[in-house]
Parts: sequence; C-alpha cells; structure tokens
Amino acid sequence: MTSGSSPSSAPAWAALADLAGRAGVVSLRERFALDPSRSEHFAGGVGDLWVDWSRHPVDDEVMGLLCDLSEQRDVSGFCARMLAGDMVNPTEGRSATHTALRASDGDETLGRMVDLADSIRDGSYTGATGEPVRAVVSLGIGGSYLGPTMAHEALAHLAHPDVTVRFSSSLDGADLTAALDGLDPATTLVVVCSKSFTTPETMVAADAATAWLREGVGDDLSLHLAAATAAPQRADDRGLDPDLVFPLAESVGGRFSLPSAVGLALMVAIGPEAFRAMLAGMHVVDRHLGETPVAANVPVLLGLLDVWHRSFLGATSLAVVPYSHALRRLPDHLQQLMMESLGKRVTADGSPTNGPTGPVVWGAGGTDAQHAFFQLLHQGTDVVPVDLIGVARSVVDPLGTRHEALMANLLAQAEALAFGRTEAETATLDVAPDLVAHRVFPGNRPSTVVLLPELSPSTLGQLVALYEHRTVVQAAVWGVNPFDQWGVEFGKDLATRFGGLLADGDDRQEPSSGLIRRYRKLRDPD
Ligand code: F6P
Repeated sequence: MTSGSSPSSAPAWAALADLAGRAGVVSLRERFALDPSRSEHFAGGVGDLWVDWSRHPVDDEVMGLLCDLSEQRDVSGFCARMLAGDMVNPTEGRSATHTALRASDGDETLGRMVDLADSIRDGSYTGATGEPVRAVVSLGIGGSYLGPTMAHEALAHLAHPDVTVRFSSSLDGADLTAALDGLDPATTLVVVCSKSFTTPETMVAADAATAWLREGVGDDLSLHLAAATAAPQRADDRGLDPDLVFPLAESVGGRFSLPSAVGLALMVAIGPEAFRAMLAGMHVVDRHLGETPVAANVPVLLGLLDVWHRSFLGATSLAVVPYSHALRRLPDHLQQLMMESLGKRVTADGSPTNGPTGPVVWGAGGTDAQHAFFQLLHQGTDVVPVDLIGVARSVVDPLGTRHEALMANLLAQAEALAFGRTEAETATLDVAPDLVAHRVFPGNRPSTVVLLPELSPSTLGQLVALYEHRTVVQAAVWGVNPFDQWGVEFGKDLATRFGGLLADGDDRQEPSSGLIRRYRKLRDPD
C-alpha cells in the first residue's frame, strides 16, 4: 500500500482502464479458440490447491499490467510488512499477526489449548461433579464464530465420536437453546469467545449459559467456563478461572482469528494434531505469499483479478460457490473476511477513495445454488464473477456415486457461464422459435475454479489463507486498511440506545418513533 497516493495515479491504472473498455470485444470463446492452452497458462498452484483463472476476460497484456499495478502500489511491500509483524493497521495502531500464529510450532497458549483439548478428548477432564466433560459449546459472533464453525462443518469427518461440539452466535435465545439442547451441565464446558469480551450478543449468551450451568452444577463453575479473549482481565472480572482463559493478541483481527484460541472448540472436535495441520496448511500459503514472484503468486493474482473486475469492469459482487457440502459455510466466513476488510470508503490516511472498493460477497453450496441463484448468473443483466470450489477426492461419500456428478456440475457451470449458447446453436435444438431468445446463454461470465485434492485440515487451512491474502492484496491496491472495522461500531452503539428506548424510553423526538410504537403494539397486543 502506498499511503497518500491514489491508485489511479499509478501509471498502470490508465492503461488498464483503456483495456477494460475493450475487454468484452474478444469473447471467452474466442480467447479459448485462440489459445487452447489457456487453462494451463492462466492457472497456477499454491500449496496443494490448483487455481484456474482462465475464464476471465484477461490476456497477457492485462495480467502484465495488473502485475505492474501491484508493483506500483507496493503490494508485495505491504504483504511483507504484514508478514514481518510491522504496524499495518494504522487506525488501530496495530500490526496484523494472524500469520505469526501459524509460523512456528506454537506458543504457550497453543500448548495450553492442546492440553485441555487432549484431556477432554481422552475423558480425563472432569467437571464439578467429577464426571468427564463430553460436550463443548462455543459462544461468539462474527470472527469469534464464523471461522471455527465453518471449519468444524468442513472437517466434521474428523470429529471425535464421543464429544459433542456446538456453536452459538445469535442474540436470539433460540440459538443458544438449540445449542444446549440435550446437554447436561455437569458434562459441558462453555467457551466464551470474544476478543473484546464486551460484545453484547456474546455477553448475553454467556450470562444465559452461566445460569444454565449454575442450575445444573451449583455456584462453582470454575471447571465449566472457559474463554478465548484479548481481554483476560474482563474474563477474570466475570469470575472465570485463569487456567481456562486463553489469550489472543490484540493484533489478531476477529475475521483472521481462526488459528488463534478462538479455535479451541474446533481443536477439541478435530484434535490437536489436525488443528496443527490446519495451521501448517495456512503457513504454506503465507510462505507462498511472501516468497513467490508476483507473476506466479496466486493470492496476489486473485486479488488483482478482483481489482480488475471491481475497479475496471464494474462488477459489484463476487459469488462463492463450493461444490462440497462440507464447505457450505465457507461463503459466510468469506463474507465477513472480505466485506469487513474491504467495505471502506476512505483510504488508510482518511482521504476518500476515488473509486469503488470491496464488492458484495455472497454465495452458497452448489448444487443447491444452481437451483436458487444461478439463473441470474447465467442470464441476468449483471455480470457476477463466481468462484467455483471443488474437491477432487471425497472423504465422505457414503454411497460412493455422487462425487463425480458434483464435479461434473462444477465444470458444466464454468463452461456454461464462460461460453454460453448462441442463438444459432439454440436454434438447432428442438426449441420453438419464440423461445430461442429465452434459451440463449450470453456467456462471457467469468469464473475462477479452485480445486482441492481432498478436504483435509491442511487444504482447508490453505484455502482460508488464500482468501485472507487475496483480500489484503485488494486493500493494498486501493490503499484501504483491511484490518479495522469502524463501520460496525456505530450500529452497536445505537442498539444500546434503542434497547433503552424499547424498554420504557421517551421516543417522541425519535425519527423512528412510528416504528417503535408499531413494534410495541405488536409486542403487547392488549
Ligand atoms: O462484527 C464486528 C466485530 O467487531 C467483528 O470484527 C468481530 O469479529 C465481532 O464483532 C466479534 O467481536 P468480539 O470477538 O470482540 O466479540
């Protein structure tokens, strides 16, 4: 990130803007016809992952200029400073040290997490009544929830068969009720995950879970309540036993905190060895980011392609579609990662950005997605770049027949989006003439294919780190701070004020008084 200057002042910017005007002139069909080796040429490996970006409106000239832009915006320098632990989050005066968590064999906190996880898994960790703890319920929201719960679903095939692990995030009590359903307080450990230890949703859930535990085992909950937090004093103030308080550094942002103590419940579920393998997978991609020249640096190239679509071709959203039931929560995690990091209207030095920044990120598991929103992707008026994520070898395919069909669907969608079906081709089919226009597919819809050899802790870690770095790369080009999230604070403050108003406050001067009264009427019908 070059502070103080606008990305559009980079020499490559104007050349890219010029090329963008002509990007659609050569269709993806024509590009593949001209260069049948596109799939090798515009693709690359990172760790065990294979990423194919050949179905984007790019050629060597565009990719070369994007690499020039990266150099002119000092993207590699910014990434190097992040990896070195330098201060890269100026609005909070912090470094961003999530990559340090996976750079070594681990620190004291990881060691303590391993001890606790092992003792729960082998049945030697007992609660207040002397019974072994057999369930862990992790409370947290945003980054203290999305990453671990996504990874827990993704690696469910590794879960300990006798230990129940559940997650709860919502302020709606129905969520916690479901998470605690069927569990016995005497054999349950509740982990309160909150970096700040002030987030109202999590603190309310912690109070409710504490009351539930107390009812079951009495007042001494020292063996039943744990915390992952950057504010251990606040956990202490709430009476948690310091032995069960696992610190995380202020410099680890919530949406980057999967490899931290926030992953405690995940570690209990999949085991310390698998958790370490996930960290090692992340580290592979961290090293790739720091050591690979830009032209072959996959996270950098993906981030630059995102910039190409957003800043030059006008894309407003990115869809993420994993063709893996186990990865169905990945879009949720990426939504926070990318939108909280890139949803910025001022640059790191406070001046307005002079163009759009982060796109809307959304998605769902294929093939369900195909029957929900792919109609718009294929024939809608907006062009939405899509990430199609596939797993080559299935670890969970009990009937043994469906996996190949899943991959066939992924490839079919990539092809239909890119190449479409022309009017002439449609007319040769048995299609009524008045339906031809409806059944034409315009094509030229970009997609990136990401292939994992199999879904393992390591490849999952690689995938997550790939998206983390891709996000940071975009921020570096646009000059925004990817590590703060001031936009969420305002709503939090207002929610506290509205809480008072809804209880018994005087709403007469409130712009929302009409809605407040309507709500009260519905709440108290008589
Ligand atoms: O959603 C805003 C946010 O501040 C996220 O950045 C964070 O992941 C989440 O709230 C939870 O915060 P905490 O871990 O401090 O409870």
